[in-house]
Amino acid sequence: MDHRIRSLSEYTQAYDKSVENPEEFWGEIASSFQWKKKWDDVLNWNFKGPDVKWFINGKLNITENALDRHLETRGDQVAILWEPNDPNEPHQEITFQQLHEKVCQFSNAMKNNGVGKGDRVIIYMPMVPEAAVAMLACARIGAIHSVVFAGFSANALADRINDCGAKMVLTSDGNFRGAKTIEVKSVVDEALEKTSTVEKVIVFQRTRTEVTMKEGRDIWWHEAIDGVSSENEAEEMDSEDLLFILYTSGSTGQPKGVVHTCGGYMVYTYYSFLNVFQYGEGDIYWCTADIGWITGHSYIVYGPLLAGATTMMFEGVPTYPDAGRFWHACDKHQVNQFYTAPTAIRALEAHGLEPLEPYKLDSLKVIGSVGEPINEEAWHWYHLNVGKGNCPLVDTWWQTETGGIMISALAGVTPVKPAHASLPLPGIQPIIVNSEGNELTGKNVEGNLCIKFPWPSILRTTYGDHERCRQTYFSAYENLYFTGDGVKRDHDGYLRILGRVDDVINVSGHRMGTAEVENAIDEHPKVIESAVVGYPHDIKGQGIYAYIIAEADGIEDEIRKTVTELIGPIAKPDKIQLVSGLPKTRSGKIMRRILRKIASGDVSNLGDTSTLLNPEIVEELKSGKV
Ligand code: PRX
Repeated sequence: MDHRIRSLSEYTQAYDKSVENPEEFWGEIASSFQWKKKWDDVLNWNFKGPDVKWFINGKLNITENALDRHLETRGDQVAILWEPNDPNEPHQEITFQQLHEKVCQFSNAMKNNGVGKGDRVIIYMPMVPEAAVAMLACARIGAIHSVVFAGFSANALADRINDCGAKMVLTSDGNFRGAKTIEVKSVVDEALEKTSTVEKVIVFQRTRTEVTMKEGRDIWWHEAIDGVSSENEAEEMDSEDLLFILYTSGSTGQPKGVVHTCGGYMVYTYYSFLNVFQYGEGDIYWCTADIGWITGHSYIVYGPLLAGATTMMFEGVPTYPDAGRFWHACDKHQVNQFYTAPTAIRALEAHGLEPLEPYKLDSLKVIGSVGEPINEEAWHWYHLNVGKGNCPLVDTWWQTETGGIMISALAGVTPVKPAHASLPLPGIQPIIVNSEGNELTGKNVEGNLCIKFPWPSILRTTYGDHERCRQTYFSAYENLYFTGDGVKRDHDGYLRILGRVDDVINVSGHRMGTAEVENAIDEHPKVIESAVVGYPHDIKGQGIYAYIIAEADGIEDEIRKTVTELIGPIAKPDKIQLVSGLPKTRSGKIMRRILRKIASGDVSNLGDTSTLLNPEIVEELKSGKV
């Protein structure tokens, strides 16, 4: 583990070197991997295109580095430790050797079913080890995976299949989540009625739910691998060949397919994993995310396996069979690093301390947080009751687009400060700008968070629409990547993320575009117009508040159903207020500032409303607040 930084002075040294000589810095880290052919140049970039390339003309396969490379030294070490939804069902321990065999075998099975390099494959699966096998098998044969969170609706799934023109879908019969069994295959069937590119569907049997299998299209996973060889030569990939597409919401339009490529993503997820969590030989690391999100990609599958770590995967939910499940699993498997989301912490905090009492939690060395700002109260609760006051709590800020953790303490190496993501990782050059794009230097400043230099796992494009990528991230400020987040640099020089400054809301750590939710609401036949904003929510961080002009009363539940059908339950408005109008400027733009204030119950100072076309509507909105 040569690239692990072990002291504050080593951090400073590494950081300075990464800024002064980024190519040498990253070239050295990349050299520790197996390349089929070494790169010619480390980096070539401009943010105008944008056009960013790392490890140019290097050839590799990421799975050789996540699997084959470890076989000699750690073939018998557990790679994936799987804890099922039901604590009474046996857990699974899959060694690097076994994982390698499974991935090779499934790679061959996919090839036998007509998928090869460059083809897009949708993965719509529960949190079972086969989901990781599916991702790695795609990477091994050079197919581009796009994992879709298995809570998305058939419509949302169809949109993603169509956007990337997927040839294959990997799925399961059903999904165990807490006390519920959720249908999965039937959702895929419905989605496939709206798509025309998918030729084969491979179905993993998990719940034994009855499903229909379409002749010629659908194959059971166990039949697809039956008798298939577990030897497979990994495809040679260019550093900049696509590794995966992951759809995420933005402030406008449909979700976009964020593209990550093989070489840079490999180097950065490995390096950030090792350093943020300070993973040591023999440790058990657990990230509670779902592989449907970037956190699951980078810090359940790729980062840990590249670092030769034992990574735990959990199928269930934090409150099943009771609110002590996380702590039960930590003790049972002697977890050393535990990484979860503030929304889970707040939900568990609401159950009090009793669920924690039976557990020791004495194996924990590092605890982490990701996905949304962690409020100080939740930070202290987590630090004190889970970390017992002596585990460094790393608050990790990053995004689907950044591929890896950007701003975070390195556990036990750099200081932590409650509710602060703190300092950038080596290689990351954040700057704060005001709305005119001028850099705000010094301490005690607040503004928009941008990054001024590329890092290896920066997104390369948005699939099929490069101009959208440029517009969204590289056009607000010249020569800067704009994150969409507000940030404060405090008097100690530590960074605190303040949340989104665009029309994106963060519900339980899930990103939702307000426009996307509005479009879904507007599909209800009785809806004339809608406006969606976020409001502070005790557990979810932000809740979804929808103001709706409709032709009928009492249709709130129907509207929620429409949104669930079009996107999924995570996009369902928490509050719906039926209104007779929306506050609009003379040019017809909805004044969201007013809607946000009313939704958050902060009506003392609504600012200047005299420029509204319909100022009288404000009183109605205030008095009808739900
Ligand atoms: O607003 C920031 C918030 O989540 C957004 C990125 O969401 P997504 O692409 O879904 O990735 C989530 C997991 C990496 C960011 O723009 N966010 C993420 N982590 C933090 C955070 N906000 C505050 N603190 C964090 N640690």
